[in-house]
Amino acid sequence: MKNTRQRGLFLTFEGPEGAGKTTQIALLEAALMERGYNVTRTREPGGDVVGERVRDLLLHAPPGAIGAEAELFLFAASRAQNVASVVRPALAADHVVLCDRFTDSTAAYQGFGRGLPQDVIASLNAFATGGLVPDRTFLLDLPPAEGLARQRADAQNRLDRETLAFHERVREGFLQAAAREPERIVMLDAARPAEEVAPLLLNGVLALLDSRRA
Ligand SMILES: Nc1ncnc2c1ncn2[C@@H]1O[C@H](COP(=O)(O)OP(=O)(O)OP(=O)(O)O)[C@@H](O)[C@H]1O
Ligand SMILES: [Mg+2]
Repeated sequence: MKNTRQRGLFLTFEGPEGAGKTTQIALLEAALMERGYNVTRTREPGGDVVGERVRDLLLHAPPGAIGAEAELFLFAASRAQNVASVVRPALAADHVVLCDRFTDSTAAYQGFGRGLPQDVIASLNAFATGGLVPDRTFLLDLPPAEGLARQRADAQNRLDRETLAFHERVREGFLQAAAREPERIVMLDAARPAEEVAPLLLNGVLALLDSRRA
């Protein structure tokens, strides 16, 4: 059985750079809290004090300083920490957990982007999460050039600065994941204005919360 816990709702947000994940999570968090839900917001890499230090390494190390294999392990280390110290306790407390990037990002970036083997990535993801799978994953999809153009050049991190070809492979990775797992991964057109994406997302999440209460 993949998910043995009974409570809480685990939602992850995926998609290329600048798709609007962080923007939408903030809007969703506010809308859910307004409706009385307990919400825990976290991100990967990051989540707790250890994960945030790993994040700093991953996003701000000099170009070429981290090898592809080491990069994979750093993301996995942050994930293990986030799941154990943030996500599982929040789910046990019946929170709606909103996680900015999760396992699908590793498959897309380190698998499709860097070319590391998908079977290794899948095993490492399963090990890092202890088998925890999101109840729903929202894939904010848009052409990478559009997402990158939304970002300020001085705010770009180590991964943003990869080539456009790299980001195109990453997008393809996300799209293949969505095609393979259509029940878990819901795709949203992130090229639309943020205020149009937000209600679609909120309605999807409210429907999910209702169906679980029934
Ligand atoms: N639907 C949208 N249309 C246009 N601009 C948007 C939209 N959503 C967010 N933005 C803007 O694009 C920029 C990137 O948004 P945001 O940080 O939410 O994306 P992200 O997916 O979290 O990116 P990253 O992968 O870098 O964390 C921000 O300046 C944000 O205000
Ligand atoms: Mg973000």
